[in-house]
Amino acid sequence: MAVKQPVIITDKHEMRQWSRSMRAQGKTIGLVPTMGYLHEGHLSLIKEAHDLTQLIVVSIYVNPGQFSPSEDLSTYPSDFNGDIKKLVAVPGGVDVVFHPHNLYDYGNNSSSRIGGGGGVKREEKREKVVSCLEEKGLGHETWVRVERLEKGMCGKSRPVFFRGVATVVTKLFNIVEPDVAMFGKKDYQQWRIICRMVRDLDFAIEVIGSEIVRDNDGLAMSSRNVHLSPEERDKALSINRSLLKSKCAAEKGQVNCGDLRNSVIQAIQEAGGRVDYAEIVDQE
Ligand code: PAJ
Repeated sequence: MAVKQPVIITDKHEMRQWSRSMRAQGKTIGLVPTMGYLHEGHLSLIKEAHDLTQLIVVSIYVNPGQFSPSEDLSTYPSDFNGDIKKLVAVPGGVDVVFHPHNLYDYGNNSSSRIGGGGGVKREEKREKVVSCLEEKGLGHETWVRVERLEKGMCGKSRPVFFRGVATVVTKLFNIVEPDVAMFGKKDYQQWRIICRMVRDLDFAIEVIGSEIVRDNDGLAMSSRNVHLSPEERDKALSINRSLLKSKCAAEKGQVNCGDLRNSVIQAIQEAGGRVDYAEIVDQE
């Protein structure tokens, strides 16, 4: 079978032009947003997208708007050439890799460094929760917030995260104008937030949630797993194990949510882990 080399586009105007010309020819487009350092979890989204649309765009962009200054933006793993090789090897390949340098560069219209002005502005910066984007002071000030869903669970320990995700995904939707967008259920809260955003803001895009892809030992694949030592990886396995155990218990009729939740927390703590949260919630 012929190998398909993706077109690499870095300019957002060029990206939009490509999409519009394809749509004018009646082609359907699937978008798979990623931050790169691709693994089988990402590739499964692409394989699923092939069944849904004629053309596939994969975006690779580490979004500063979803990292707080205390998080790992500077050490987030990347391997662009390795990513391209993996994309070429996916059955059916991908059509475009959208790899912008900076999605928040508005040319001459960028202005107003936060904290760069008088005392009031500096005060605002100290009080407000800021992301790495505001730290750079690029003049971006519009955020998409899914107000209730962004607050709990991962949002508790990462207050700028979902605002940053919803905003960059909106930008990608506006630039790529896809028919379908793929997200992984590994990041369940993220997927539900994007679904809600698409409904509330009337994006004409179908959002698909894809099943979690795991390594043979049961750990959910994640670009950040590369940072885990063998001991940490071993501890992390307690997450999947304890969730499966609670799932089994629930299926056998154990319906006390408090007990199910506590047994997950306890098992992870016994394995040496520290739990940010464990919650049983309705998916909406
Ligand atoms: P990233 O962590 O690179 O993940 C890109 C997509 O792949 C997400 O939808 C994520 O849920 C999915 N994914 C990651 N690991 C997976 C696995 N093991 N099984 C199934 N799907 C998996 O999530 C992001 O990037 C960013 O927040 C992004 C949405 C791109 C916005 O910047």
